[in-house]
Amino acid sequence: MAGRIPDSFIDDLLARIDIVDVIQERVPLKKAGRDWTARCPFHDERSPSFTVSPHKQFFHCFGCGAHGSAIKFLMDYDRLEFPDAIEELAGRVGLKVPYEGGRSPSAPQSDAADLYTVLDQAARYYQRALGESTAARAYFDSRGLDASTLTTFGLGYAPDTYDALRSALGTSAQRLALLEKSGMLARGDRGVYDRFRDRVMFPIQDRRGRIIAFGGRVLTKGEGPKYLNSPETPLFHKGRELFALWQVRQAQQKIGRILVVEGYMDVIALHQYGLPQAVATLGTATTREHAEILFRNCSDVFFCFDGDRAGRQAAWRAAESVLPRMRDGRQAHFLFLPDGEDPDSLIRQEGSSGFEQRLSAATPLSEFFFTHQESGTDLRSADGRARLAERCKELIGSIPEGAFRDRMQEMLTDKTAIRWSLSASLSPQMREGIEEMLDERVAQLRGAPTKLADTRTVANPPASSTDAQRSVVRYAVALLLQHPAFIESAPPPPYPFAILRRPGIALLIELLELCRARGAPNTAMLLQQFEQREEGAALRKLAMLPLHGDAGALQREFVDALNVLANQTARQRADDLIAKQSESGLDDGEKVELRGLLAARRR
Ligand code: UTP
Ligand code: MN
Repeated sequence: MAGRIPDSFIDDLLARIDIVDVIQERVPLKKAGRDWTARCPFHDERSPSFTVSPHKQFFHCFGCGAHGSAIKFLMDYDRLEFPDAIEELAGRVGLKVPYEGGRSPSAPQSDAADLYTVLDQAARYYQRALGESTAARAYFDSRGLDASTLTTFGLGYAPDTYDALRSALGTSAQRLALLEKSGMLARGDRGVYDRFRDRVMFPIQDRRGRIIAFGGRVLTKGEGPKYLNSPETPLFHKGRELFALWQVRQAQQKIGRILVVEGYMDVIALHQYGLPQAVATLGTATTREHAEILFRNCSDVFFCFDGDRAGRQAAWRAAESVLPRMRDGRQAHFLFLPDGEDPDSLIRQEGSSGFEQRLSAATPLSEFFFTHQESGTDLRSADGRARLAERCKELIGSIPEGAFRDRMQEMLTDKTAIRWSLSASLSPQMREGIEEMLDERVAQLRGAPTKLADTRTVANPPASSTDAQRSVVRYAVALLLQHPAFIESAPPPPYPFAILRRPGIALLIELLELCRARGAPNTAMLLQQFEQREEGAALRKLAMLPLHGDAGALQREFVDALNVLANQTARQRADDLIAKQSESGLDDGEKVELRGLLAARRR
């Protein structure tokens, strides 16, 4: 039987985890001001009275009175014994639980509270030193930072000696040990000395506003790295922290979006110039943990990167980290900056409105994903398409189930599943026609304009090509239902689109035939025919669909819609013939038909 778990360990543990993360994994929380709320998991209720406070690291239900820490939550919710709840939480942050008198010989945990204190003292020391250093103040001046920015970010200066901080704060053996453990002192040939020297200092705060590390930048180009960060410590794990997330949360009650940029100075300039939504990773790639933290705070995340090769590579790594976090409702966008510019330089030149404009033109994750995956792949070759499918399979599989994954899967299928292996028996002309058709299909999937306007919808712009295809049928049905007289402008049967595999086609044909047989009935008569049928409800809705334009314009739209359906049918037939060609070959009649279809498309 294991012994008692020391209180100091429990304190340490509670300081390292975030109750919001723990509960969020089990109960869907909604942001409400500074707190999070949900319907209480411990009693039945219709409106949410369960709140979680990130500041207090505490949950409370105003309905049933349940309350407590993350440990209590796990005990109540997961029905764990106390030691098991501790083990569970310790596992999350990679700690081994010590047991007094038990088998575990683990070193005594340093008191986390003392580490926070010493880092806070260091930050204040650096701020005082900034006041005393003309050179450091001149540096921030030259970077255009104003006084309130210096305060908001707690910026400071580490003096140019090996023992400034050490002698100011290391007044006892215990404090020296804490300074070393917190990463502020380094150990080497000269003993224990100040890690940061002659650098402007950027404190890094955790999600609760406590200082956990620093970044330091040289004032002038010299030897040594331009930026130096604290090493990993018991408080600082850079794959998990985002610079300025605390400031972003302070600046806004409700965070509409977060911008992720690469540098400290980029974040600070964006905040100062009116976009206090910027955070930065700390000289590392975006991890999955970063992605989760970002989306916990808001549903729209914009990643800003250099437009160069390294920037694209970093963006791709961010995309890979984000995919497994793309639950429904979340959105990621990618913004690539012009050569030689960074967010700091851009927002100074263009102001927040200029930067906003860039953001509104950012690339959605889906588009960036396929552009990246397709680069260097020839989608015209069966080989290339197979490679693309292979390359995407696992990544798309990493997306949580939902609309986004479905859409990505659908896009991939559209790009790859068509079995376009063009055999040698095809004439060069036919081959060219097929390739052109494929190009057009790919362009369409990318949302680019195509020569044939056959996914055009007359109402709102389509959310996806499937929506558009569905809505053409739907639109034609609505037009005919509301204006049965339009039957006069429909071509005589047989309708070419009767074989089109789209939902609603059969219903459209039925309506066309009804109208023709009845000699232009009215809407109510048509609806009556479907009163007892499943389609009745949908038709009643379409009969009420607002249509804009005068009868003449609507009639032209109706004719257009039928033409679009005929085009889609031709494409479907060509697809079928090409698939058949690669599987079992075409007979002469079919070859002529395909040639005709391809030629018609070119016109
Ligand atoms: P950059 O060099 O692009 O930063 O590095 P920046 O913010 O534009 O720099 P200045 O101040 O305007 O010249 C981006 C980030 O990469 C990390 C830092 O986090 C930096 O903010 N980095 C960079 C390092 O960790 N070490 C380095 O030597 C350089
Ligand atoms: Mn810069």
